[in-house]
Amino acid sequence: MKHLIDKLRSNRRLDAEEYKALLLCRDTALAAYLQGLAREEALARFGNKIFIRGLIEITNRCRNNCYYCGIRKENRNITRYELTQEEILSCCHEGYRLGFRTFVLQGGEAPAVKDEGMVETVAAIRQSFPDCAITLSLGEKSREAYERFFLAGANRYLLRHETCNERHYRKLHPAEMSLSHRLQCLGWLKEIGYQVGTGIMVGSPYQTVDYLVEDILFIERFHPEMIGIGPFLPHHDTPFSSFSSGDMELTLKLLSIFRLMHPSALIPATTALATLAPDGRERGILAGANVVMPNLSPSHQRAKYSLYDNKASVGAEAAEGLQKLEERLKGIGYEVSKERGDYENGELTV
Ligand code: 5AD
Repeated sequence: MKHLIDKLRSNRRLDAEEYKALLLCRDTALAAYLQGLAREEALARFGNKIFIRGLIEITNRCRNNCYYCGIRKENRNITRYELTQEEILSCCHEGYRLGFRTFVLQGGEAPAVKDEGMVETVAAIRQSFPDCAITLSLGEKSREAYERFFLAGANRYLLRHETCNERHYRKLHPAEMSLSHRLQCLGWLKEIGYQVGTGIMVGSPYQTVDYLVEDILFIERFHPEMIGIGPFLPHHDTPFSSFSSGDMELTLKLLSIFRLMHPSALIPATTALATLAPDGRERGILAGANVVMPNLSPSHQRAKYSLYDNKASVGAEAAEGLQKLEERLKGIGYEVSKERGDYENGELTV
């Protein structure tokens, strides 16, 4: 099995059967070897610097009904909110003061009538913060909307494909959503010129090793600039409430595979990973992650953006806890970078 890991490092790819064997292997020494190589790869590209992104959860209103997600339309047990443009700008001001140079506006999927307001918000942020990157994570939109957000000043877009297998996609989403449209959106985003992020939940209900191999092959082909990967975590008010959480070791293994496959990618140690285990963030970094996304949302709204149960949003997961984050990173030999951290043709400007 070690030869497969070495092959992945030198060739940047494996065959489907080889990926499958690697995913199925439960040997802890090999897992440590894989993580060590992935960590070295990240250290060689980025040094011991971890990029920070200020996450602003702009709304928990959503027109979709994904079976896994706590802010799905049919969940009547949460109070819905939507930040105003002023509130979003004030989050950015606070973030800027703290040292953030990337703002990630994430929210449930809004109807097209809201697109114009979003264009104005992006333009306002762009005007006030010319030296910052603006990342959007607002789900599936029309090509025109993506273009207008981009022209208004957005630079990056996160849209996880969630699964690349048609049958699996159907089990996670109701009939009105489709994998082909999701992939269409990802194609548009790339064509328009965004730095694009995609990814999956590890251990989502009905996921199989073969599906994971399909996801790996998709990510290899699509070559996203950012790869978001975290464990599935159940939310009590969803149809998937009784499924168990994704596995830490498998999540880390996939993270390391993506790092070796795509050394320059921006890969966060996700909030879901930090929620699954108290040392999840650190373990993600030691397996090759190079980004963290602390929460910049107004603190009184954070609990309402409940994608899954017990979602971490305090301490080192909170933007105001940056010092705590810095201490924890120091504990494993890493430092926060306050650069924008763009992806640039395989070379990063730092
Ligand atoms: N567990 C883990 N991740 C989740 N997401 C949504 N619901 C859950 C959950 N229950 C992830 C999805 C989505 C991102 C914003 O959050 O992958 O793309």
